[in-house]
Amino acid sequence: MKLGNQVAIVTGGAAGIGAGIAARFVEEGAEVWILDRDAAGAEATAKRLGCRFVVADVTHAAEVAQAVDSVADQAGGISVLVNNAAAAGPLVRLHEYSTAAIDEVLASNLSSYLYCTHATLQHMLRAGGGVIVNIGSESALRPPVGESVYGAGKAGVVSLTHSVAVEYGPAIRCNCISPGVVRTPMTQFLLDTPGLLDPVRAENPGWEPGEVADIAALATFLASSESRYVNGQNIVADGGTGLHHAGWTPVNGMIRRMFEKG
Ligand SMILES: NC(=O)c1ccc[n+]([C@@H]2O[C@H](COP(=O)([O-])OP(=O)(O)OC[C@H]3O[C@@H](n4cnc5c(N)ncnc54)[C@H](O)[C@@H]3O)[C@@H](O)[C@H]2O)c1
Repeated sequence: MKLGNQVAIVTGGAAGIGAGIAARFVEEGAEVWILDRDAAGAEATAKRLGCRFVVADVTHAAEVAQAVDSVADQAGGISVLVNNAAAAGPLVRLHEYSTAAIDEVLASNLSSYLYCTHATLQHMLRAGGGVIVNIGSESALRPPVGESVYGAGKAGVVSLTHSVAVEYGPAIRCNCISPGVVRTPMTQFLLDTPGLLDPVRAENPGWEPGEVADIAALATFLASSESRYVNGQNIVADGGTGLHHAGWTPVNGMIRRMFEKG
């Protein structure tokens, strides 16, 4: 049990990567609280995993503060925060974004991480320690076409990771996982588009999209004391595809053609 006696909040834990992390954390002995805006989904996943849930939209600072305080009150503190909840937004080039959509995507992918971290730090500081794991994206480093705003938000998450480590380490550690393509509801459209990932497979023989368990394993390591000497790092989990960036060129070409077709 790598996370015995830990109280963990996993934002966006109702589905996808968050649900995978919540499941693994429960297996590792943590008291897990899913924080999600999808009340029905959070309830169903919490029931399936045998954990607790709280409903909040992470883009609303007041809702976040209320939810985090309520978990801390009921659980007697918060030792681990996984900032994971986010939505990708429209897959269009920057000039096609409305400014309202820019605000929305940044609220979802950056401000929300600041709100959740801000609210949780108060409790971790009182307890004298804690661990924060941010789920970023490889799009921050190697953005595909159509992810300028999402990628900018995720790049901000990497910067936030550095800042929290500098301001609060070593008592409070903060690391980031930047996944490549992981099989979740968010990426279903990518996985369902025939041929879209073939060039990536061609560049990386044997490669397949990651599973939520792959990210959950890394999150468990970063949340546990096994990583006590790792702080302020961004770890890319993409099966190595980022090393073959040229493989994305034809993918970007296909996405461009999809845009042109409308
Ligand atoms: N799936 C991938 O390939 C991939 C790759 C890189 C990064 N990521 C990142 O991983 C994280 C999880 O992605 P996923 O694929 O599991 O997504 P998903 O869409 O499958 O699940 C996201 C979960 O977060 C919740 N959520 C979304 N916005 C919320 C909000 N404002 N307030 C509260 N809850 C909210 C949803 O209800 C859902 O339960 C995201 O930060 C995403 O950017 C995913």
